[in-house]
Amino acid sequence: MTEKTKDLISRARAAFPHITPAIPDFDAIDGQGGDSFTAIRDTAAIIETTNSLIPPLYRRADVTDERLLAWVDALVKGSKPNKFSRVPYLGRGPSVFLKGQTGVGKTYQAFGALRRLSIIGVGCAPVAASITDIYAKMRPRPGVDSEAVFERYANAPLAFIDDLGAAKTSEWVEEVNYRLINFRYEHQLPTIVTTNVLPDDLGRKLGDRVASRITEMAEPIALKGIDRRLGGAA
Ligand SMILES: Nc1ncnc2c1ncn2[C@@H]1O[C@H](COP(=O)(O)OP(=O)(O)OP(=O)(O)O)[C@@H](O)[C@H]1O
Ligand SMILES: [Mg+2]
Repeated sequence: MTEKTKDLISRARAAFPHITPAIPDFDAIDGQGGDSFTAIRDTAAIIETTNSLIPPLYRRADVTDERLLAWVDALVKGSKPNKFSRVPYLGRGPSVFLKGQTGVGKTYQAFGALRRLSIIGVGCAPVAASITDIYAKMRPRPGVDSEAVFERYANAPLAFIDDLGAAKTSEWVEEVNYRLINFRYEHQLPTIVTTNVLPDDLGRKLGDRVASRITEMAEPIALKGIDRRLGGAA
């Protein structure tokens, strides 16, 4: 079982050879009073969890933006290794706010950051969704526990919330935005938020209180360039 699991880890690492894992050599752990079996099991689970979140279009996504790379590094440095497995787990930390027009690569960079953390091997039980999907999942209807859906995204140690500001504003949308961002803000839970709302429109589209919290909790990263979907035609 461990050989198969080790193989999964090796293949994932081989696909991203420029990313240095936190535990390059599992065998060394036993000699240092640790538990390599748990380390291998947990590291494989980290990779599989992230793989399951990344849609096929972004399966090769990799961070290229220096500011986002620095943010991932800071999270890795702030993570705490488990005493026995040595596997690092994400703690509290700063967030990032990726801004830019459609097609510049916000979603790609964000999934790349999740991927990078998983190849490094940091446990962070991430969640990822477009805000419009979160609204759709939360819409009160029979058989749906809206609060449980909310808590899944609010409580996750790492969350990627894509396309904030993309939906038509309503009181309900504003309330969900506020509760979600406020919870993550107060608990200092690392979050990647993306938007293509223009800086001058943030307060109007997201509400001043949401925009204010994001400004404090997250480093703004403006991505520039053409719409990659249109290639040279933009
Ligand atoms: N650095 C990159 N290398 C290769 N392909 C990329 C890169 N960045 C983005 N792409 C590709 O370009 C397309 C657009 O990128 P992406 O979906 O991340 O844009 P976006 O900024 O999130 O756009 P929107 O605001 O419309 O959601 C996707 O097909 C994505 O895979
Ligand atoms: Mg996108």
